[in-house]
Amino acid sequence: MAKIKGEISNDFCPQALYLYGNYEEDGTPHFGLFCWYGWCWLGEGNGKLGVMACIGEEKRTKDLIRRTGMFSANLVNEPLLPLADYYGCVSGRDVPDKMKRLPTVERGQALDVPTIAESPVSLELKVVKEESLSKGRLGPECSESTLFLCEVVNVTIDERLTDKSLPVIERMKLSQPVSSMAEEAYVNFFGQELAKWGEPMKSL
Ligand SMILES: Cc1cc2nc3c(=O)[nH]c(=O)nc-3n(C[C@H](O)[C@H](O)[C@H](O)COP(=O)(O)O)c2cc1C
Repeated sequence: MAKIKGEISNDFCPQALYLYGNYEEDGTPHFGLFCWYGWCWLGEGNGKLGVMACIGEEKRTKDLIRRTGMFSANLVNEPLLPLADYYGCVSGRDVPDKMKRLPTVERGQALDVPTIAESPVSLELKVVKEESLSKGRLGPECSESTLFLCEVVNVTIDERLTDKSLPVIERMKLSQPVSSMAEEAYVNFFGQELAKWGEPMKSL
């Protein structure tokens, strides 16, 4: 294998997609699609599982996280892809009735956040720190990038994924997670390209 110098990018570094959920002030659930997401450990020893969520320019999802200090992260699977694509391509600030399309929404078990019944794994997240990543770097054409450091307060998971009599890979096939690894393509973890961004939502 020959390696060559590449562009600065995260292409071909697999990253699952998540739908972040929150409630509007009137109780309407709101969702946006995100991939700049990572795991971290908060504290030492018996610390807590944490999440690093990076949100770019100002958007409805960021408004709501700032207002409530919490959100849900729902793993996107193949059946959810058309709706997830729609939530990623349509701006909540620009399209007031974005949420005319909804999945099966359940209320979080620990936090007042909407979770998605069709998602195999839903995390309920409490923000513990917000950090601007644009400090001193903002020019007229730059928008603010914000890092939300969160504590995982609760997890709900498809019970079939907890059946340890099934090999992990079989359970992963059941969960059908989706990634977007390069060139605005949705792919699964089993070698198939599913669609380009903006295509799956056309089937709604
Ligand atoms: C595949 C995909 C991944 C995305 N990941 C992110 C992300 O990690 N961070 C971000 O700020 N926006 C991301 N976006 C863009 C948001 O989903 C988009 O701004 C959307 O309008 C957010 O919903 P809202 O405007 O209702 O808040 C992504 C979009 C797509 C299609």
